[in-house]
Amino acid sequence: MAAVRPFLRAPAPAINRWLERYIDTRYPAGPRGSAVARTRMIDDLTGEASADGARQVVLLGAGYDSRAYRLPAMARTTVFEVDHPATQRSKQRLLRGAVHPGLRTHVRLVPADLTVDDLAASLRAAGFEALERTVVVWEGVTNYLTGEAVDATIRGLAALAGSDSRLIFTYVDRDLTLFLDLSAREAADRYLLPLGRHDPASSFYRIAAAEIR
Ligand SMILES: C[S@@+](CC[C@H](N)C(=O)[O-])C[C@H]1O[C@@H](n2cnc3c(N)ncnc32)[C@H](O)[C@@H]1O
Repeated sequence: MAAVRPFLRAPAPAINRWLERYIDTRYPAGPRGSAVARTRMIDDLTGEASADGARQVVLLGAGYDSRAYRLPAMARTTVFEVDHPATQRSKQRLLRGAVHPGLRTHVRLVPADLTVDDLAASLRAAGFEALERTVVVWEGVTNYLTGEAVDATIRGLAALAGSDSRLIFTYVDRDLTLFLDLSAREAADRYLLPLGRHDPASSFYRIAAAEIR
């Protein structure tokens, strides 16, 4: 079981409880439970891999992942947080306010767009030691990438990481085929325009349906 560090600034407990209740009521199918279980399992697998000798950790598409700062075992490794430059800029701002510089000396931020950049070159430039035993966490990211980018990333990692390295990842089944993908505005137009109405609706929110084969 991985221990955690309590130093990250967290919302006040009352806000936490309110948020938990809100999410569980608004989205009863269990996204919070799934996220908690996924986080915990990956924490444990990452901790085991570093206990087994991995000296480098790569968080691919790190987002707001806080493992590098809250798991004590991570401080004995070098952690490479790879992310799209836009997300990483925002994370960097948050880190400055939330994590003391002395508690992030083992972390290297590596900006890279996995659909266009050479991952191996970006990692090497940040000090990654090729052929060293490494644990790579690729959580909640593959579903945002093309199949080609996923293949290229896995091939790049296979060539770069040492033997006995581990890749921990999540994925969405490739046999999910969207057969409907509309913005809320398009959906509203579909029903309202025939009635002679044009009510405003968000174009940002999307409605999708998938087929499982
Ligand atoms: C849902 S978040 C998951 C973040 C984190 N791994 C977690 O589980 O909390 C998706 C992440 O994938 C990253 N991402 C999406 N497309 C990317 C790309 N083309 N190159 C690099 N990162 C990408 C985003 O910047 C974001 O950090």
